[in-house]
Amino acid sequence: MFKSLFSKLVAMFIATIIFSFSIAGITLYYTLGVYVSEEKVRNLDLSGEEISKYLGIYLDNLGNPIAQVMLEYVMDSYRQNTGAYIWITNQKGIIVFSSPNVRLIDKRVVNNLKFEQGYYGLPDERQYKNVFLGIDPVIEKGDFYGLFKETGWSWLVVQKPFKYKDTGGDEQVVAAIYLITPISEVHKTRSTVYRFFLISIIVSILVSTSLVYFFSRKITKPLKEIRDAAKVISEGEFDKRLNINSKDEIGELAKSFNQMAADLERLEEMRRGFIANVSHELRTPMTSIKGFIEGILDDVIPQEKHKEYLEIVRNEIARLNRLVNDLLDLAKMESGELQLVYTNFNINELIRRCIIKLESIITEKGLEVIANFDEDTLVTADIDAIERVLINLIHNAVKFTPSGGIIGVNTEIDNNNDKVIISIADTGIGISKEDLDRIWERFYKVDKSRSLDTLGTGLGLSIVKNIVMEHGEKIWVESEVGKGTTFYFTLKKAKNAYKN
Ligand SMILES: Nc1ncnc2c1ncn2[C@@H]1O[C@H](COP(=O)(O)OP(=O)(O)O)[C@@H](O)[C@H]1O
Ligand SMILES: [Mg+2]
Repeated sequence: MFKSLFSKLVAMFIATIIFSFSIAGITLYYTLGVYVSEEKVRNLDLSGEEISKYLGIYLDNLGNPIAQVMLEYVMDSYRQNTGAYIWITNQKGIIVFSSPNVRLIDKRVVNNLKFEQGYYGLPDERQYKNVFLGIDPVIEKGDFYGLFKETGWSWLVVQKPFKYKDTGGDEQVVAAIYLITPISEVHKTRSTVYRFFLISIIVSILVSTSLVYFFSRKITKPLKEIRDAAKVISEGEFDKRLNINSKDEIGELAKSFNQMAADLERLEEMRRGFIANVSHELRTPMTSIKGFIEGILDDVIPQEKHKEYLEIVRNEIARLNRLVNDLLDLAKMESGELQLVYTNFNINELIRRCIIKLESIITEKGLEVIANFDEDTLVTADIDAIERVLINLIHNAVKFTPSGGIIGVNTEIDNNNDKVIISIADTGIGISKEDLDRIWERFYKVDKSRSLDTLGTGLGLSIVKNIVMEHGEKIWVESEVGKGTTFYFTLKKAKNAYKN
C-alpha cells in the first residue's frame, strides 16, 4: 500500500500526529474531568455561601414576608445559574425550602423522600448527619445513600452547614444548604470543551498533513531526480550530472552520484580509447603485410628484394603475435585469472640470465651494463612473471638509450621491511614530467613516431605494473629528460635464506 518513499513519509507523519494528539486528547479528557468537577464543587460551594447570607437575613427577620421572598428569589436564581436542586433542611433532615418546589422535582427522586406532616424530608440519617456536625462542605458523589438510585445516574451533592446564634448566644448548626446536580451535568461542560478540542485537532491535522505533504515532496523530489539520472546513465548517457546542492545527506548522495557518473564516463572513454588503440595497432602491421605481399605477388617488388621484404613481413607478424599475447595476458591479469606461483629464488641470478638473453641487442648498441648486487638476495615471487618484468624494463632501458650509454642494475636488501629493492637505470633519453604518470597506461608511448623503437606496442609497462601489483609490491620511476631513467620495484625477501 505504501510503496513509494513519499507515501511512507506522509503516512508516518500522519500516524505520528494522530498518535500524539490522541495522547494529548486522553490526558486532556481526564484532567479536564477533574478540573470541571472541582470547578463545579467550588461554584456550588460559593452559591451555598451566598444563599446562607439570605438565610441569615430570613432568620433575623422571622415573620417578615419580604425576607422570605428574598430568600426564595435568591435560591431560584442560583437554581437557574447552576442547574442544581437547592434545598434547605433542618436538623431532622426536613426540607424546609426547595428550589424548584419539591413537587416539580423528578418523581423518581421525590418518591424516595419521606413525607411527614406535610413536609418532605431526607429518609436516611447519613444524608444529613455529617453536615450538622459542622463539616463545611460535605461532598458526596453517587446515588446519595439510595436517594437517586432510580435515576440511574451518579449525582454530586454539596452540603453546607448553616450556623446561627441560639437564645444562649452560642453558634449552632441549625440548617443545611444542599446543592445537588447530576454528574452528567458536570460532564456536559467537559464535553463542550472537548468538542472545541476535537475541532482544533481536526483543523491542525488538516494543516499539518498539508505541510507534511509539502515537505515530503521536497525530500522525495531530489531522490526521484537521482533515480531518473541513474536510469539515464544506465542507458549509456554518461555525461548526465545532478544539480542538487543541498547541504544534507541527499546533497552528499548527489555529490557521490556525480562522482560515480564522472568515473563511469572516464571508464567509458578509456574503453573506447582502448578499442581504438587495439584496432589501430592491429591495422598498421596488417596494412604493411598486405602491401608487401601484394607487391611481391604483383611483381612490383623485384625478385632480388623479396627476401628482404619477407623478412619485414615476418617481423610484423611476430609483433602482431606479441601484441595479441600481451593483450590476452593483460586481460587475464585484470580479471584476476593470472595465478602466481610463489617460489624462493635468487633475484641476482635471474637478472643475470635476463641480461644474457638480451645480450645481442645490448652489444649491438654498444651499451655497457654495470651490475651492483647485494648479497644473499633471495626473494619469494613468481619467477616467470618477474623474469617478464625484468626483460621488459631492461629492454626499455636498451631501447631508449643511445649507443655508448650505460645500463645499471642494482639489488639492495631493505632489512627493515623484509624487502629487496631492484632498480634498472639507464643514461637514455629520459621521460618528461607530463609523460611520467602516463607511461603505465596501455598503449602509451612517449614517442609516437617511434624513431627509437619500431617494435614496441606500449603494453610493456602496463604488464610490468600489473605483475608487481599482483605480488602486492611497489613500482615507481624517476627520470630526467636527456639524463636517464631509473625504474624501481620491490620484492618480498625470502624467509628461509638457504632454500633455493
Ligand atoms: N627507460 C626508458 N627511457 C625512456 N622512456 C621510456 C623508458 N621506458 C619506457 N619509456 C617510455 O614509456 C613508454 C611505454 O613503455 P612500454 O609500456 O614498455 O611500451 P613500449 O616499450 O612498447 O614502447 C615507452 O614508449 C617510452 O616512451
Ligand atoms: Mg617496453
